[in-house]
Parts: sequence; C-alpha cells; structure tokens
Amino acid sequence: MKLLPLVSVGLFFAQSTSASSIQKRDTVSDVLNDIKNAATCTACQSLLGVLQAVAHLGNDAFVGVITAVCQSLGVEDADVCAGAIGLEGPILAHDLREMTIGSHTAQLFCGTIFGLCDYPAVTPYTVTFPSAKPAGASRPASSGKTPLKVVHYSDIHVDLSYQVGANYNCTKNICCRPYSAADAPGKTQFPAGQYGNTQCDSPRSLEQSMYNAIKTLVPDAAFSIFTGDIVEGAVWLVNQTEVTNDLNNAYSLMSTLGMPVYGVVGNHDAAPVNSFPPAAVDTTISSQWVYDTLSADWTKWIGSAAASNADKYGAYSVKNPNTNLRVVSFNTNLYYKQNFWLYETTMETDPSGQLAWLVGELDAAEKAGERVWLLGHMPMGAGDAFHDGSNYFNQIVKRYSATIAAQFYGHTHKDEFQITYSDYTKQTAANAVDVSYIAPALTPTSGNPTFRVYSIDPVTFGVLDYTVYFANISSPTYQNGPTWQKYYSVKETYGAQLTPPVTAASAELTPAFWHNLTALFQTNDAVFQQFNARKSRGHDVSSCTGDCKTSSICQLRAAEAQYNCVTIKPGVNFKKRDLAADITHSDECDGSAGAKILGALTENIGAFQEALEKQLGAGFMSETVNGTAS
Ligand SMILES: *[C@@H]1O[C@H](CO)[C@@H](O)[C@H](O)[C@H]1NC(C)=O
Ligand SMILES: *[C@@H]1O[C@H](CO)[C@@H](O)[C@H](O)[C@H]1NC(C)=O
Ligand SMILES: *[C@@H]1O[C@H](CO)[C@@H](O)[C@H](O)[C@H]1NC(C)=O
Ligand SMILES: *[C@@H]1O[C@H](CO)[C@@H](O)[C@H](O)[C@H]1NC(C)=O
Ligand SMILES: *[C@@H]1O[C@H](CO)[C@@H](O)[C@H](O)[C@H]1NC(C)=O
Repeated sequence: MKLLPLVSVGLFFAQSTSASSIQKRDTVSDVLNDIKNAATCTACQSLLGVLQAVAHLGNDAFVGVITAVCQSLGVEDADVCAGAIGLEGPILAHDLREMTIGSHTAQLFCGTIFGLCDYPAVTPYTVTFPSAKPAGASRPASSGKTPLKVVHYSDIHVDLSYQVGANYNCTKNICCRPYSAADAPGKTQFPAGQYGNTQCDSPRSLEQSMYNAIKTLVPDAAFSIFTGDIVEGAVWLVNQTEVTNDLNNAYSLMSTLGMPVYGVVGNHDAAPVNSFPPAAVDTTISSQWVYDTLSADWTKWIGSAAASNADKYGAYSVKNPNTNLRVVSFNTNLYYKQNFWLYETTMETDPSGQLAWLVGELDAAEKAGERVWLLGHMPMGAGDAFHDGSNYFNQIVKRYSATIAAQFYGHTHKDEFQITYSDYTKQTAANAVDVSYIAPALTPTSGNPTFRVYSIDPVTFGVLDYTVYFANISSPTYQNGPTWQKYYSVKETYGAQLTPPVTAASAELTPAFWHNLTALFQTNDAVFQQFNARKSRGHDVSSCTGDCKTSSICQLRAAEAQYNCVTIKPGVNFKKRDLAADITHSDECDGSAGAKILGALTENIGAFQEALEKQLGAGFMSETVNGTAS
C-alpha cells in the first residue's frame, strides 16, 4: 500500500481555518472516543472529519483502512470486503475529500451511509418551463378502440457465471457460483438447479424461459419495455469487461422477442455499481462506456437519432412507429442516493442537464399533441431517491400531467405503484394526476420470477389493465422447466370491489382509480393483505399490519420522495446498541456493498481505531481533525 507521509496531513490541518460549521478541533483519538457512545447526527459529522483525514491520505490509504475494518469485523467475507471497497472506496473517498462537514451534502451522506441524519429539507428550486400549462389541460377519455398489448419486465439480474450444481447456500449475497472448491458442482450438498434458486440471480436459462413464455403467451404484443438492471449482484467482482458482456448478451437475447424493446439504464448496469458521474464531475472513473454500449444495443429499436442522445447520459426520446406515443427513457441514477458521485460540495439541481432536456421533450410533445410514457429504473418516489431531485422532477410531471399517460419503473423488485398528486397535503382522487407503474423482477432473489402484460388504449395510451404472469419457483416441477402462468389481473381482482366498480374493458386505470384502491386498502384489510402478498410475488410473504400497513399505503401515495414516510434509521451497524428496532432499509434493491461496509464502521469504533493505527501509524491518532462538530 502506498501512503503519503503523515506530515502532509499536518499541513492540511494547519491550513484549515474557520468554516462556520467547525466549532472545535480535536485529535482523531478524541473524536473517536467521543463518538463511541453517541449515535447521533452530530457524532456522525465528527466521524466524517476523521474519514476525510483518511481520504486526504489518498485512495489507497482509504481503501486499506476500510477494508481492514470490514475484514476484522466480518461485515462481509474477506474477498467481498476487498473487492467492494476496492471498487467503490475511491468514489467515497472523493466525496469525503470535497465535503464540507455540516453541509446539506454531509447530512445526506450521514443519512445514506450511517442512518444517523434525517433528510434535510428540500433546497427550493423552481424548474422553468417554456410555456404555462394550457388552461383545462386534462387526461383524455378512453377511446374504446381495441387495446394494444405491451409487455413489461424488469430487474432480470442475469448471472452468466451461474453454475448448475454449484452451492446455492453460500455466505454471499448471491450464490450458485463455485466461489470456492467446496462450492463446486459435485462437492456441495446444496446443488443449484437448472432454472434458478431464491439465493441466486437468474441463470440465462431462466431469462430465455421468460422470453419464450412472452412469445407464447403474448404473440400479439406491440412492443416491450424493460426497466433495467441486467447485471448480477456480485458487485465486489464486476468490472467493465463483465458489465459490457452482460449488457450485450441480454440485449441480444431480447432481440429474439421479435418486437421493439424500450430499455432504460439500471443502477447495476455499470462498474463500479451505481457509478454514474454527472457531466460536471471531473473524474477518471467514467461511465461513458456504459452509455456507448447501451446506445449501440438500443439503436435497432430507437434509431440512430435517439441513440445518439442516449450516448450522452443514458436518456432518449423516440416516437413509437405508427402510433401517437412518445417513449421518453431517462437515467434515474442521477437522483439515486447510492450514486456517490452526486454528493458534490454543492449538490447540482440538474445533474447533466437531464431535467431541462426532459422539459424540452415534454413541451414539444404537448405542442405536437403526442402522448408520452416516461420510463426509468428507480421510481422517483422511492426511499432511494433524493428528496431534492424527486421534488424537481415532480414539478415537471405536474406541469405535463395531461401529456404523460403513464410512467414505468422497476428497481424495487416489488409489484407496486406510486401516485402523483397535484397537492400532497390533499391526497384525494381529484388531486391524483399521474401513476408510476412499478414492475416486479425476474430475478428469484426476491420472489417468484414475473413479467407484466398491459392492456393499452391505442389512442390515449392510458393503461386499461395489467396481468402479471409468474413461474412458481416452489413448484416441484419448476427445475424441469418453469411453467409460466397468469397470477392475477388488476381489473379482475380489484375492479368490482371499488365504489363505483371499474370493470368495463375500456375503462382506464386512472390516477383516481389507484387513489381509490389505496382508500379501499384502508377500509378493507383483506384486500390490502392480498395486495401485500402479490407485492412480494407470492413468495415468502410476511404479514403487514399496523405501522407497516400505514407506511406501505403512504409509499403508494408518494411519487415524490419527501412524502413517502420512509424514515432514516441507524443501520445494521447500531444493532449492538439496541437502536435498530426496525430497519426499513433492505426494502429496495441496494446496489452498494461499499456503503454497507463503510456504514458498519460505527458498529465497533474500537476496531476502526485499531485499523487506523495499524494502517496509518500511531501518529495519525494524535493528528487534529477538521470540522469536529461540538
Ligand atoms: C480541512 O479543511 C480545509 C478547509 O475546508 C481543507 O482545505 C482541508 O483539506 C481539510 N483537511 C482535512 C485533512 O480534512
Ligand atoms: C444452509 O446451510 C445451513 C448450514 O449448513 C443450514 O442450516 C440451512 O438449513 C441451509 N439452508 C438451506 C436453504 O438449505
Ligand atoms: C473482469 O472480471 C472477470 C470476471 O470476474 C475477470 O475474469 C477478468 O479478469 C476481469 N478483468 C479485468 C480487466 O479486471
Ligand atoms: C373514486 O371514488 C370517488 C368516491 O370516493 C368516486 O366519486 C370516483 O368516481 C372514483 N373514481 C374512480 C376512477 O373510480
Ligand atoms: C407455488 O407452489 C407451491 C407448492 O406447490 C404452493 O404451495 C404455492 O401456493 C404456490 N404459489 C403461488 C403463488 O401460487
């Protein structure tokens, strides 16, 4: 490991002067002793001071220290510690070096990594529009014409290194790979089957099986949408070669569907995972190769003009041939709290200018009388979305709600939806203006493999119904070949239970419909429990009552993240201090292993102290730290 001489740290400290957030200056040792007993936002800010000092010694020093703590605490297997921090550590260290302790950015960092600061209030920013919303603009009524069928699948997470017969019961987040000799086929008592396992990401055979099922069950589909995440969850191993191969492999298999596929970029579709630096960030760790690969893979479906825009930051806008639908696919990683490039000294209101681009596309579509679908990976009301970016994005959705027929996302691996309201303080059917359709996943790690088929009004492009298809992974015949079957349809299941009933084939599932469904969940617990079971794809269903139910309904009613009732809580790291009564975290597709590992530091400050002394020398402990909050 390469270390800068410690004297240069002293220089940094000597030069540090009076940032207003800096109240007193202590040594590394004092700071660590102080925060041993305090799991607070203030303590976290002090800890950031120490981490910043380590980051100033260079990426190698930072990676060395954090890896050592991860290994000594056994947060992950030793190879996972080294791999994940080796990949993500330089991005986290970059954040820390630039960070002003006590700032909005530092508070968000402490919230995301350590669960110790609440979300700060949204920094107000008013998005500018080229034109005002036309008076009386509203969603068009259903046309009554013969519906189109559109297929939606998501989060395929295909593991090309899946091996039939490899151990499915390993110590890592995805198994079914011969990580060690004992995990190899023929050596393990837990051999993986041909078509997947709930402890493993999808084998290619399962991916192929889904495409075959789509062709058989929906031969008349007009087109497909795929809402991202191709790459497997072995985030400590993925590199550019692997991800490029994964993306090309999946999109070439999707071509066999024989219909256009509109894709998006997922948070896993890069290496390091979640790494999507906005244009303004100066770094050598670029994800341009991801955009190059995707735009090349997408060209056959979206044409070269749209593909050349996709090559900028993964977003494109294209007219569906022969219809009045415009498909607008955008990169939600630019608002994702685990994209650690976003923790800039002053956070950008519009990373890479994507929101301004979106406004331009929507305004042109409105003037042209087109209908628009927005496609993204992470739903913008998710617990994983920055409140700021979500607020700015939702200003755009509200302005163009008469033009945006629907939005489509994945990422959560759950079968759910989110409602946009014109006023979140008055959540009524009349104020519901748009709906985000969130598709469950293919990967069996989080439930039965699924895909959706929508029935779509061919004029308004409103959603009239959708049917979820699934393959029951617990079926005794599953490993002989998955049987894909209908799970349920929204209208058949819920339509007749609403007042008034919504059962006509031509009736749209309007934003008001979805609002009314959430009201039904409140009054009819049996219907809510059915929804809750379907949400996790009928697998490993846990009951959801009391606060769980209240918060689940709150999330459905929040396409804007600050209203989603997701509260930040100390993570696993504080288990030992009995502070982690309930952890809301694991709800979502967490990409980052680095964040979890760094977050575990606070589990044992003593181990962190030891690693610092061992890696950086005892002298480091008496260095003075910048920005210690009092
Ligand atoms: C201390 O703060 C100053 C001023 O913000 C900064 O320039 C310097 O890099 C910081 N040093 C360390 C070690 O964090
Ligand atoms: C995995 O292995 C552990 C320890 O050998 C065992 O207790 C457990 O039942 C196994 N799990 C499965 C799903 O087979
Ligand atoms: C990328 O990862 C693959 C699979 O883990 C590995 O075989 C290959 O050597 C890696 N390539 C580089 C350049 O690190
Ligand atoms: C929603 O419920 C209200 C009554 O609470 C009803 O007037 C309205 O028609 C319903 N909307 C839809 C789309 O079902
Ligand atoms: C899947 O199959 C298992 C075993 O036959 C059965 O118990 C379970 O109810 C099925 N799940 C669904 C959602 O149909």
